Amino acid sequence: MRLLKTQVICLANQIGGCGKTSSAVSMGAAFATLGYSVCLVDADPLCNLSMSFGINCDNLYREGKCTLADAFLKKKPAVEIKQDFEGRFPALLSLVPGNHGLSSSSVKLEAQLQGLIAGNEISSMDADDHRNEHRLRLRKSIESLRGVYDIVLIDTAPNLDFVMTAALVASDWFIIPVFPSGYDLSGLELLLRTVERVRARFNPELRLAGVLLGNYDRNTKLDCQIHDLLKKQFTEQSVFQTTIGRSVRYREATFGMVTVFEMPEAAPQAEQYLALVKEMINRGAKGIVGQTANPLPSVADLSRLAAQEEVQGVVNG
Ligand SMILES: Nc1ncnc2c1ncn2[C@@H]1O[C@H](COP(=O)(O)OP(=O)(O)OP(=O)(O)O)[C@@H](O)[C@H]1O
Ligand SMILES: [Mg+2]
Repeated sequence: MRLLKTQVICLANQIGGCGKTSSAVSMGAAFATLGYSVCLVDADPLCNLSMSFGINCDNLYREGKCTLADAFLKKKPAVEIKQDFEGRFPALLSLVPGNHGLSSSSVKLEAQLQGLIAGNEISSMDADDHRNEHRLRLRKSIESLRGVYDIVLIDTAPNLDFVMTAALVASDWFIIPVFPSGYDLSGLELLLRTVERVRARFNPELRLAGVLLGNYDRNTKLDCQIHDLLKKQFTEQSVFQTTIGRSVRYREATFGMVTVFEMPEAAPQAEQYLALVKEMINRGAKGIVGQTANPLPSVADLSRLAAQEEVQGVVNG
């Protein structure tokens, strides 16, 4: 380990397709390239993160191997679930694979609970304590990675369900990846309200590491306006200075089940993620951290900008 303490970072935005998984993969590879040890955690039932590393989550079940579902259902420590990648990012990158059944874990835990109540093993008055304990299971499982890895990166699903909020409960930091479209930004208010509830009930230490603008084209007026608006509303400090440019290389990397760091033709994309993690490390070193990410971007403003851009697109042909 190079850091004094393990930092657990969750990528959170309930809007689909805004760069959570791509950023988890590329940031993991960037930290590993700089010599930091990283464990990626796939908390999305779609298992895109696991697939990015060539892991087929269906086969894991058949092979009797553990997945993140075991953290919830069997209280398995993540350090006993993680897999290492021989020959890739030697000894510095590991992954806790996802499970397509993750989304049903809360239903299974609730059914267990109802069974205990029906069997008179607990009273219904105890049930809330048990539900709270369920929400802490991922955190407890990930505790086992503390002191082992410098960085733990949790990829989450595009919703705010039990597993996603358990990832917030388990994290020290959250990053909000955003693509520059009015739709991508409209859900931020609910995300931040959810973060406030997680802070109040389970994890007061949870902090915003930054808003990350990806799929960004600095030659497009709308993209620049959205970048400025984010900085205005979230404060300059809370939006990463590093932006991730629009490029087909990310889809190519996903398709080839490699990271942009393993594609020579994607060197500029790898450079951007290196710049991003260096920015994070420097911020940490200087003690500059984003606090609560309020005030929120005005959804009305963003919709107006998006509409203007559409009209311009029509006028310009
Ligand atoms: N900078 C970028 N430029 C162009 N395409 C990108 C960029 N980053 C990611 N993509 C592509 O955008 C798509 C969505 O990205 P990604 O899967 O990372 O989003 P996500 O937030 O994890 O989605 P979901 O919420 O569905 O899990 C993918 O096809 C990915 O390859
Ligand atoms: Mg994803």
